[in-house]
Amino acid sequence: MRIGVVDSGVGGFSVLAELYKMMPAEHYFYLSDQENAPYGNKETSFLKERLHLLTQELLKEKVDLIVVACHTATAEAIESLRANFEIPFVGIEPYLNVLNQRQSPNEDYVVLVTETTARSKRFLDLKGRLDPTSLINIFACKKLASLIESYFHDEMTKGDFEVELKAELELIHNLKLSQPSLSSAILGCTHYPLVMRQIEAATGLKTLFPGEAIARRTKERLLSLFAYSAPIDSSTNGFSYRRKVTDPWQHRPWNYLQKVSLIG
Ligand code: DGL
Repeated sequence: MRIGVVDSGVGGFSVLAELYKMMPAEHYFYLSDQENAPYGNKETSFLKERLHLLTQELLKEKVDLIVVACHTATAEAIESLRANFEIPFVGIEPYLNVLNQRQSPNEDYVVLVTETTARSKRFLDLKGRLDPTSLINIFACKKLASLIESYFHDEMTKGDFEVELKAELELIHNLKLSQPSLSSAILGCTHYPLVMRQIEAATGLKTLFPGEAIARRTKERLLSLFAYSAPIDSSTNGFSYRRKVTDPWQHRPWNYLQKVSLIG
């Protein structure tokens, strides 16, 4: 099957990696919107317009389903996408369902999101529904996604990146010191799992990310919509990638994703 994956930049690779692990024989088209990254400080109308355009680009490749591998875009645009296009979409939302698996009543969480996600109606509704007594702290990261973007594209050294990441997450680190029951950070932006080990080192928290659940959901949708049956033994040797909409499609081997800690 042909599966489109979209994000502002490289964050969706954290979802693509899980899709590949679960369904290695599909043809993936990864389209990012580098010219407009980050999405995390953009307005709703702008994001809707961009996501409509990215969808139209992917439809030219005759994809069967699109994974919106971006929390910010899901929060701001998925309803509009579903209302305007017939193709099925799978989105991603911060993993607040973790509360259902809480091991002890003394375990607290913080969810890390972009500024746009933090103020979006969809996220605040979800938070109200799943966490009515506010057990989960919300922390909006101002520039973490941009830092990860620069780091991935070798525009900053590992050392500089880790210094900046630490500064960005200093408040969380301090919160952990004053609130020992704080156990985990829910990664509510697809860029963040790419550096989950560095986030864990900087904050002293475990990290949680629903990438595998999104891959499972995608597979279920393919099964129910297209009577899809996964090929057994073939694995594609890479994926199609456009870093921005004006670029041509390029082939990338799967080990391209090993640049990040999630799969490295
Ligand atoms: N990776 C995206 C998300 O999950 C967007 C980050 C950004 O571009 O600010 O929210």
